[in-house]
Amino acid sequence: MAILKIARMGHPVLARQADPVDDPTAPEIRRLVADMLETLADAGGVGLAAPQVHVPLRVVIFAVPESRDRDGPGVPLTVLVNPEVTPLDDAQDNDWEGCLSIPGMVGLSVPRWSRIGYAFHGLDGKSEEREAHGFHARVVQHECDHLDGILYPMRMTDLDGFGFSEEIMRRDKEAEA
Ligand code: NI
Repeated sequence: MAILKIARMGHPVLARQADPVDDPTAPEIRRLVADMLETLADAGGVGLAAPQVHVPLRVVIFAVPESRDRDGPGVPLTVLVNPEVTPLDDAQDNDWEGCLSIPGMVGLSVPRWSRIGYAFHGLDGKSEEREAHGFHARVVQHECDHLDGILYPMRMTDLDGFGFSEEIMRRDKEAEA
């Protein structure tokens, strides 16, 4: 296992469409996921997509700890190979997001579908379907966007809420005072 270098916004690997995985059970996919898990644990965060470690394949890992899940009981570590996301209705939420590929920055108001279904293959090759809402749905949409070359600022309709997290926190503190 190895901690991999994380690509930052502006690197072409983050801007392209990632390729489907032919065989989710292949040893090289298992190895990639093991390295992604180690990289995510080292960097901190709830999710990581393969393009973020310079591998243009449709693979995502994420976990929502109970402490960070405002909308549910948390989600155990999940590996998504070739995921597909479908909104279940027209409802959207705005909430803040950060990204390991845009270090030090935050977007306060990123629109996402409130309720989604998502289908994927696991490392055992089996297909699975799930439904998600709230923060869980947001994490899945953010990570799967990486597979289509989309970063969260590209989803924002109001860039007033995009900036360095230190500055935005200072600004909000001053606004409250
Ligand atoms: Ni990200």
